Amino acid sequence: MDRAEIVDIPKAELHVHIEGTLEPELAFLLARRNGLTLPYADSTELRARYAFTSLQSFLDLYYGLMDVLRTAEDFRDLTTAYLDKARQDGIRHAEIFFDPQAHLRRGVPLEAMLEGFGAAIAASEGPSAYLIPCFLRDLGPGAAMDTLDELLPYADRFAAVGLDSAEAGHPPEPFADVFARARAAGLPAVAHAGEEGPSDYVRQALVSLHARRIDHGVRCLDDPELVLRLAAEQIPLTVCPLSNVMLGGVARIEEHALPRLLAAGLTVTLNSDDPAYFGGYLADVYQHVARTFGYDIATMRAFGETSIRASFLPAAEQQRLL
Ligand code: ADE
Ligand code: ZN
Repeated sequence: MDRAEIVDIPKAELHVHIEGTLEPELAFLLARRNGLTLPYADSTELRARYAFTSLQSFLDLYYGLMDVLRTAEDFRDLTTAYLDKARQDGIRHAEIFFDPQAHLRRGVPLEAMLEGFGAAIAASEGPSAYLIPCFLRDLGPGAAMDTLDELLPYADRFAAVGLDSAEAGHPPEPFADVFARARAAGLPAVAHAGEEGPSDYVRQALVSLHARRIDHGVRCLDDPELVLRLAAEQIPLTVCPLSNVMLGGVARIEEHALPRLLAAGLTVTLNSDDPAYFGGYLADVYQHVARTFGYDIATMRAFGETSIRASFLPAAEQQRLL
């Protein structure tokens, strides 16, 4: 199947971190604009560091590089670049994660982030875009609750709240009160779970956070009862195969759990996660998956349809995009 056929598939991206779309060239441009010096000679040297061995080894570089994001214009330019790429890939709708705490702790006000995102989305010729702020789980529930205080005045700008960052040793359950308060304010939950962490974190995300989607979730296969529940409740998994390979979750894409997730009757969407770091945007992900597993165009179109139906768009808008 050629790239044009992949691009033509109506699809949504439901798992992309806007900070993970920061290409090395833009990072250097923003560093210059903000009078900062990066600890890399150039974008070639920076790219050469993208040899990750774990989620943490990636996060260390990722949180460092995002220091170039300082002003509303920086967040606007980052988001504009992603939306342009998304449009070229045939994405009709994107639900975009961002990490408010990673910027607040560097002194960047929430208003600068939101002004930048808003300007880019308003000026874009598509796709439509929703925002999902994520709490950094390794900073704990207290810090998440403080962040929620800052987010709630802008609750109508968000589709949901999420949970991300270093998973191992940071289970979802302690964040129950944070997500209950967000839910009371009209913000549903999504959560990274079962990426590096155990299947029990997926279960906790469902039971304690009332997560409406599970980001990654591939480790759910270790618990057959949990798989039955995910299938029965049609909880979408936002799976990111290239990310899982780049962070060492699986050695090769051929070994990815994707076919087993589908065989178990799970609701699976395909996503890029941090495309500037993991070797491809969403059309690349679709292409790798189709080639690796020999999926035909009907199967690939089904992934696209599932992604639109798993979005937070109103049903009538989903129908219009399909
Ligand atoms: N933040 C950005 N990418 C992430 C990932 N793959 N897992 C957890 N947190 C993240
Ligand atoms: Zn992610």
